[in-house]
Amino acid sequence: MHCIKKITDDLTWVGANDRRLAMFEGVYSVPNGVSYNAYLLHDEKTVLFDTADRAVKHRFMENLTEALNGRTPDYLIVQHVEPDHSAGFSDLFDRYPDMKIVCNERTMAFIKQFYDLDIGFRAHIVKEGDTLNTGRHNLHFIMAPMVHWPEVMVTYDSTDKILFSADAFGSFGALNGAIFADEVDYDKDYMDEARRYYTNIVGKYGAQTAALLKKASEIEINMICPLHGFVWRKDLQNILSKYMLWSSYTPEEEGVMIAYASVYGNTENAAEILASRLRDRGIKTAMYDVSVTPKAYILSAAFRWSHLVFASTTYNAGIFVTMEALINDLVAHNIQNRTALIIENGSWASTSGGQIRQMLERCKNITILENVLSIKSSLKAEQLLEIDRMVDALIASFPV
Ligand code: FEO
Repeated sequence: MHCIKKITDDLTWVGANDRRLAMFEGVYSVPNGVSYNAYLLHDEKTVLFDTADRAVKHRFMENLTEALNGRTPDYLIVQHVEPDHSAGFSDLFDRYPDMKIVCNERTMAFIKQFYDLDIGFRAHIVKEGDTLNTGRHNLHFIMAPMVHWPEVMVTYDSTDKILFSADAFGSFGALNGAIFADEVDYDKDYMDEARRYYTNIVGKYGAQTAALLKKASEIEINMICPLHGFVWRKDLQNILSKYMLWSSYTPEEEGVMIAYASVYGNTENAAEILASRLRDRGIKTAMYDVSVTPKAYILSAAFRWSHLVFASTTYNAGIFVTMEALINDLVAHNIQNRTALIIENGSWASTSGGQIRQMLERCKNITILENVLSIKSSLKAEQLLEIDRMVDALIASFPV
């Protein structure tokens, strides 16, 4: 049986949810599932926007068939070839031999690479600024390279002022019966997952995301239809303003994120004392044990908070493994515009602090405070003064 959702009178969601997937892209846990969105536009011509992942291919095809109501799709617009949106191609091409595929040159090359399908005879190649009239609707194609792959394009329906935004403005989390962001408590239940989704998947490409936001700012948008998560029809500024911050690596909140790696609890204790004294001074804090919380969540938090503390024991003459993995990921995702502080621990040759500093120095606009707490095995009473000085230094670095 089908499960389709009306978006407008002539636009229908024909996607599907997956709550069994353990790791999205093989690396990001999705405890609340994920949706793969596809949309069908009924006009003089019928237009399908993208397909779905192989795990939900059957449900997607059922939904599409129901929404088509006996018609056939005239066009498939391929905005993004990543297999979570393109696994339905082969079945679709077999079932609808007359369907045209609207895509750009790069997309066509990727389709051949992934599926060994020759679509040349049915391809309708578009580039930046090209349009497609489908009857009542005028569709405009806008290239959005690296949001999230180089071939990505988005589509603007200037008739109903809808932006089909590919991966942009999406979120982890299955839809659970709703389809619009205003049907749920998005800020409370989904914004963290929207941040985790953007920062981990597209976060490295802030400049390219900013370029898309600039293009989006030049058109009137009443609705955003992403390939994951909810459709936005109200309060669009809610998600757009977050993307402005994330893409420019601007902290959302003043506060201190403390990430620590501790084998026997002594580094953790120093981190706890620091957090407690910051809270005593009215500073917001968030704490993560890097060996327990998957790094994707901590990376997302690093995009949220203004100040980052890294506390790590020394291990194999270097940074503790899980902390090293986190910092590698932060550097790879271009984290910038932050103030950082380092705590190291080592029972004989402490090297973790210096190595963390070296890694962070590869990032743009990271101010690393000079106060470094160096613990020998466990924190000593006289070092509490050093923690107080770290608290003072952190507070002094907040804007007045
Ligand atoms: Fe949802 Fe980049 O694919």
